[in-house]
Amino acid sequence: FFDTVTYTPPDAIFELTKTYNADLAARKVNLGQGTYKDENGNPWILPAVRAAKEKIKESNHEYLPILGLPSFRVLATELVFGKDSAVIQEKRVASCQALSGTGALHVAGTMLMRAFGRDRTVYITNPSWSNHRQVFESVGFGVKEFNYSLSGGVDMQSFLQSLNEAAPKSIFVFHASAHNPSGWDPSPEQWKQIGSIVKERQLFPIFDAAYLGLTSGDYDRDAFAIRYFAEEIGLEIAVCLSFAKSMGLYGERIGLCAFVSRTRTLATAVESTLAQLIRFEISNPPAFGARIVAAVLEDVDIDAEWRRNLATMSSRIAEMRLQLYQELTELGTPGDWKRLMEQKGMFCILGLTPDQVQHLQNEYHIYMAESSRISIPGLNRSNVRYVAECIHQTVKR
Ligand code: LMR
Repeated sequence: FFDTVTYTPPDAIFELTKTYNADLAARKVNLGQGTYKDENGNPWILPAVRAAKEKIKESNHEYLPILGLPSFRVLATELVFGKDSAVIQEKRVASCQALSGTGALHVAGTMLMRAFGRDRTVYITNPSWSNHRQVFESVGFGVKEFNYSLSGGVDMQSFLQSLNEAAPKSIFVFHASAHNPSGWDPSPEQWKQIGSIVKERQLFPIFDAAYLGLTSGDYDRDAFAIRYFAEEIGLEIAVCLSFAKSMGLYGERIGLCAFVSRTRTLATAVESTLAQLIRFEISNPPAFGARIVAAVLEDVDIDAEWRRNLATMSSRIAEMRLQLYQELTELGTPGDWKRLMEQKGMFCILGLTPDQVQHLQNEYHIYMAESSRISIPGLNRSNVRYVAECIHQTVKR
């Protein structure tokens, strides 16, 4: 029966984690998968999450409603759009709990396939997160890429040209903040330019929002593009929100898929369709992560603690960016390192060749994606000098 099935190579980034974990070297550094680590290189359970877990420890194990934990959906929606936003006041947001960012993208894609049909194209940035293409292809869309970044920032010319040339109702996947992997985000002014073309040409934006709060340490600031599109220029949009990075809930798979519609009636129809999609795919979503997020957001003190935790994570990332930059500059390592300082979020593409990346792994047990994207939180005060020296030796080879 399975003669037609051919071998599929493993996912590169998960494979890298596996190889790193199996490496027995005493000194090794994981700059691969984008997961936050503390100053000692360990996973960080946010103090806000610890407090929330204490509050929910007596919960039972009954099914959640199909669309997810109601308090989670309300609070997460308010978090993204702002409590007083018109889209919430006018009940124009349809939402469902989702299996983190990927699950939210899949639900969004499935919903748009229903609404738009197969002949729409999904545009993703080049480079982009390795999962984007296959998520949208898996629901039946054709996927095209547009050049997103140059070595010094967002390639606005290519970005605007792609928006101008795409057929109306094409779908564009935007990274709401902290573009993965380039680390370059449009400025607020550039988002405004993007927004006006999206509106004029009737394109449909999906915001992949995996790093809100972690990018700058200020959730509201990181949600600028989403709010601008939904609120200021009144567009219909989708938001795929993840709490993996912002609350450190990677393995709990907790996220939200939200659609902003033109009217309340349309939002009700969209939400009813989301309920059907969830029912046939997973019946109803897992409860634990949703309870944690709700317990954080509904308690003034725990919420305040979480905002401090976001600032802790984003400032440690900024500090490591600065330190790596300083070390490489001090060593006089050839390369354009300024970008380390200018970019936002967890990632930076160092601009090394695949051969250099492999050399760093084989010789020095320093792991990064083949593109030379590094996950900055893998750095800490004890290893940043070592990493810089090894990059230096590798580049000078
Ligand atoms: C990454 O890009 O490393 C993270 O978003 C983890 C993943 O699932 O790919």
